[in-house]
Amino acid sequence: MLKLHLAPMEGVVDWIVRDLLTAIGGIDQCVTEFIRVTDNLYPDHVFYDYCPELKTGGRTQAGVPVLVQLLGGQPIPLAENAARAAELGAPGIDLNFGCPAKTVNRHDGGATLLKYPDRIHRIVEKVREYVPAHIPVSAKIRLGFEDPTTCLENAQAVEAGGASTLAVHCRTKTDMYRPPAYWDWVPKIQEKVKIPVVANGEIWTVDDFRRCREITGCDEIMMGRGAIANPFLFREIRFAESAPQNRELLQFVYGFFDRGERELGPKYAQPRTKMWLAQISKRNPQVRTLFDHLKTVGEPGLFRSSLLNSIENSVSM
Ligand SMILES: Cc1cc2nc3c(=O)[nH]c(=O)nc-3n(C[C@H](O)[C@H](O)[C@H](O)COP(=O)(O)O)c2cc1C
Repeated sequence: MLKLHLAPMEGVVDWIVRDLLTAIGGIDQCVTEFIRVTDNLYPDHVFYDYCPELKTGGRTQAGVPVLVQLLGGQPIPLAENAARAAELGAPGIDLNFGCPAKTVNRHDGGATLLKYPDRIHRIVEKVREYVPAHIPVSAKIRLGFEDPTTCLENAQAVEAGGASTLAVHCRTKTDMYRPPAYWDWVPKIQEKVKIPVVANGEIWTVDDFRRCREITGCDEIMMGRGAIANPFLFREIRFAESAPQNRELLQFVYGFFDRGERELGPKYAQPRTKMWLAQISKRNPQVRTLFDHLKTVGEPGLFRSSLLNSIENSVSM
């Protein structure tokens, strides 16, 4: 059965974004931004900051589960933090072995672990041991640090450690975010492991989704930037709906701005809304025109009215 995952995206997919995107429909599972673990057990408020959904059964208001993602290189601290997240109500723990950021890799976290399958194995195993058996532990990898062939050994390490799902961002760390995503590795990985593999990378449209599914043979697919560029992408895929009109798109963006300003203030709402419009406008020339105008607006009242005006004017878009 098809299972659609919203990709974790640090600085982009926070609880407000998860709430709004899952309200649209089509998403089966979310993951928090990564929580970087060094050697301490975090106080509870850190878990609640990253995942306020813990207070509502680990689910968004639409009822979609949100896994807590941890990143680090030390098995015991990761396991202790994972166990705490589980105690607080996380419906699953996800381990990040894919982050390409230099600061993260320099501090023994993310994609750098892909060079050491035995370490990945020990981390997954320890986390699995500390987290109650009924709470799933999953992992997210890239194809490798530089060498994509290492994905096979790393996938086996994840499975042997006891993870129940493996998400694969189909690029190496060296590839960063450069297209293409090498979906053809997924069936090779799936041949080596029994746990379900979730295909991820470079799905922007319903057609991309179809091609990815065909090439990977996966029932589980994860999408990130595509859902920011088109917040209705999951719904289009899941319910075979046609693409939204710009008016619906802009109403959604306005809803995000309004909610963000109320919950987290203008310092959050305005730059994030501009960032969101920038992503949409990459593939939408009409929204580009609006973005070019709005990006110079700083005054919150004017920003709000300009956005509202754009919805009015979008009838002709
Ligand atoms: C801004 C940004 C932040 C990201 N943060 C995370 C993260 O916190 N955890 C993680 O596992 N992956 C993270 N990723 C990787 C995405 O989850 C995903 O694997 C990648 O963007 C490829 O999928 P896409 O082409 O559908 O976006 C991030 C990607 C971007 C662009």
